[in-house]
This record gives sequence, C-alpha cells and structure tokens, in this order.
Amino acid sequence: MSSSNATALESARPKVFVTRRLPDVGLKIISSRCDPQVWQDRLPPTFEQLLHAVRGCSGLVTLLSDRIDAQVFDAAGPQLRVVSNYAVGVNNIDLPEAIRRGIAVGNTPGVLTDATADMAVTLMLAAARHLKPASDEVRSGNWKTWEPTGWLGCDIAGKTLGIIGMGRIGATVAMRMSGGWNMNVLYMSRSEKPLLGVPFSTRVELDPLLAASDFISIHTNLNDQSRGMIGRREFALMKPNAVLVNTSRGAVIDQDALAEALASRQIFAAGLDVTDPEPLDANHPLVALPNCIIAPHIASATFGTRDAMAEICAKNLIAGLFGEPLPAAVC
Ligand code: GLV
Ligand code: GLV
Repeated sequence: MSSSNATALESARPKVFVTRRLPDVGLKIISSRCDPQVWQDRLPPTFEQLLHAVRGCSGLVTLLSDRIDAQVFDAAGPQLRVVSNYAVGVNNIDLPEAIRRGIAVGNTPGVLTDATADMAVTLMLAAARHLKPASDEVRSGNWKTWEPTGWLGCDIAGKTLGIIGMGRIGATVAMRMSGGWNMNVLYMSRSEKPLLGVPFSTRVELDPLLAASDFISIHTNLNDQSRGMIGRREFALMKPNAVLVNTSRGAVIDQDALAEALASRQIFAAGLDVTDPEPLDANHPLVALPNCIIAPHIASATFGTRDAMAEICAKNLIAGLFGEPLPAAVC
C-alpha cells in the first residue's frame, strides 16, 4: 500500500478520545478500527483539557471520574455518536442530554458483578472484625498479648442482611451471604425480584430494612431518589450493632451523618469502597475513625474484571461508531 493510501485509510478511521489508558485488550480492539487519542497521565484530564481533547471526536471512552455533559457534547461537535463508559454506573453522564442528541451511551454491566460483590463481602467481614485497626496495631508494634475480650467484633452467620438495591450485584451479595453464611436477607428494590433466585429473601421498605438488619449493603444506582438516602434519620433507625457497607456511589450516604453515627457508636462500623468526593480528603472525619474502613473505589479492580470491562467498553464504542446496537447499551 502506498503511503498516501495508508494516510487516506487512516483518516477514514473515526477519531476517538480515550480519557485514560485501559487494559491492552481494550485498546487493541479500539486501535483496530479507530484513530484513538489516549490520555496518558495517571490523573484525569481537567474539564478544560477534556473539552479541548474531545473536539472533532466521533466517540469517547470515559471513566466514572469524567463529567460528561452538554458542554462536552458541544465541544466534541455534532459528529459525536457514542460515549462508552468504562464502568457499570453512568451517573457521571448526562443521559437525558445524550438521548436528546441521539448519542449512544454504553456501560459494562455483568462482568464486574462478582468482583464488586466480593468487595462488599470483604468490607462487611473486615468492618465487623476490626480488621484495619487490629492489623494497624501489629504494624505499629502495639500488639501486646492475646486478650479474652480484645477486639470483639460482630457475629455474621445467621444474622440479617439488608440489601438496598437488588440488581445483579446486590443479588450476588445476597446469594453469597445466604448460601455461605446462612444469613436472612431483606431487600429494598423498586420491583419484586423473583427471578434472581435468592432463597429466603424478603422485599421490604427502607425503614423496616434499616431497623431489622445487622448488616446493610448498598447497591443502588445514584439518582435523585438515592442521593443522600442514608442520613441522620436513617442512622437513628439502625441497630447499634449495624455494619454498613457501600460499594455503589458515595453520595448515597450523608457522610457527615455517617461520621457522627460511627463516632457516637450509634452504629457499629462501616466499610466503604466509594466516597463523595473521590478521592476523599485524608482529613475527612471518616478517615480517622477506627470503625470505618475505606478503600479507594477498587471493587472492580481484579485482573479478569478490568480486562472484561475493557473488552465490552471497546465493543460498545465500535458498535456505536458504526451505527450498530451497543452490546451493553444504556441509551
Ligand atoms: C464502578 O463503580 C462502576 O460503576 O463500574
Ligand atoms: C450492576 O451490574 C447491577 O445491576 O447491580
């Protein structure tokens, strides 16, 4: 092929902006059909840099930390056809605006269900058993002796688990904990979930769930109904031995109210994989609390899951660019 033909072919490839380096398996698929520009920094582009980088693009690959709204769509231009989010949650994208403009939006459901459910279970167990402060004691040289009443935590087997948001991830946590730990499961969900096959689970409203649960795990999307849904009123309803876990989005919880509830021992402990904002300031009161364990939004961070997400994300992008239905379409 002559170099001018190669150049012509090159320019026929749709221009796309990828806001961070994805696993190679995804980038390879993208590069095979598109002309990608990949943001190379570890930190995200600023909003200004994003507006600049999307100019003339037909497709965008975005992360949950990128705000994608009308301003970004305007900056890209009318040829923008698809936004492929490297996440299952899409609260970072203005969906009504995307729909209005006929821009397809894709996400990565399904492939991160097990990894995210595993993180919810991990946080539940770690928070119930003081894992972080106890291991810190070893590290700091303060482990003195074995104590009959030292580091007492919560029993888990046979207790009641409340799941807020019974989608794939919530149902998988429920299956793990009802099967493995013989927990009794209550769930709150917009609809009955008879097909999810979780045995011994009962659908209830929020208040009875909060009042009856020993463990509460949040798996709802972030939307107008769920934003701030767990606040002072809700903590007051919880049991003093309650362990609260959040692997969904930080803004579902009123974090100041959570810090107060943990500091005053109104509830026993919390395990968070998500905060608002992210990253959370290291001086936030939650960070210093011994009964709060916080992970830096790593629930989907396994080798297999991140590769699988990259593959779906790349396929969504390409389908959208070439006018085909997205394998995982949000809109
Ligand atoms: C992670 O939080 C995701 O939405 O994929
Ligand atoms: C996400 O995949 C969910 O439906 O919980």
